[in-house]
Amino acid sequence: MLLVGDRQDSQSYVKNKKKAAIEVGFHVVDVHLPDTVTQEELLAEVKKLNDDPEVHGILVQLPLPEHIKEATVLKSIRVDKDADGFAAENVGNLCLKGGDAPLAVPCTPAGCVELLQRSGVKVAGKSATVLGRSNLNGMPMAQMLLSMDATVTTCHSKTENIEQYLRNADIVVAAIGKAEFLRGAWLKPGCVVIDVGINSIDDDTKKAGYRLVGDVKFDEAMGVASAITPVPGGVGPMTIAMLLRNTLSLARQSAG
Ligand code: GUN
Repeated sequence: MLLVGDRQDSQSYVKNKKKAAIEVGFHVVDVHLPDTVTQEELLAEVKKLNDDPEVHGILVQLPLPEHIKEATVLKSIRVDKDADGFAAENVGNLCLKGGDAPLAVPCTPAGCVELLQRSGVKVAGKSATVLGRSNLNGMPMAQMLLSMDATVTTCHSKTENIEQYLRNADIVVAAIGKAEFLRGAWLKPGCVVIDVGINSIDDDTKKAGYRLVGDVKFDEAMGVASAITPVPGGVGPMTIAMLLRNTLSLARQSAG
């Protein structure tokens, strides 16, 4: 696992991922670099892991500092060690109908699919609205829902009148990173809401001085939806579980 810089949120995500990996018996190589690291130095660290036969999965925690080109770093990870499923080949295979299965799939959307499936939510034929189109979350989420035969709408920062796309949505996935953006009154009664957002907001009543909230105004949405994921404790742990699943799968594939 490669972490660059000292962002509190990234440090905490990596700590949780590491803890879970160790708990299930993985060997974790922990690389923490200062945010002054150059792109060449970071690429050299990735190469070391690429070349290490003991390493089956590589994760570079995002976001990276501005002076580093994220796409170049992600591209440098061997596709058969792409624990996050972010490589072009893996994303391409996720999107192609009837193609090869991706070696790994983006963890957060995969966790959302797992939640839907294990909760018995019918997806085929349903109307799904995804808020957000990032490479990490919104885009692969929409693809996965599409491949499960949902009719999918993706809304983003340029979408006008987002509410009209939520009114008829049976499944809503919020992944825009805006604290408590989505209001209960916008939702179709009985819909299923998955909240991918993790935003910290000031709260003087808390010891830490802040609390974590999702992209959905939870209390409002809870009264309208038939099922909803909380923040924290909803999608977050699923992301970690899917990272472990991807890594195990890569290790098995490398063993032939
Ligand atoms: N930053 C936020 N979510 C993720 C993720 O799933 N993987 C990586 N590598 N970085 C992230």
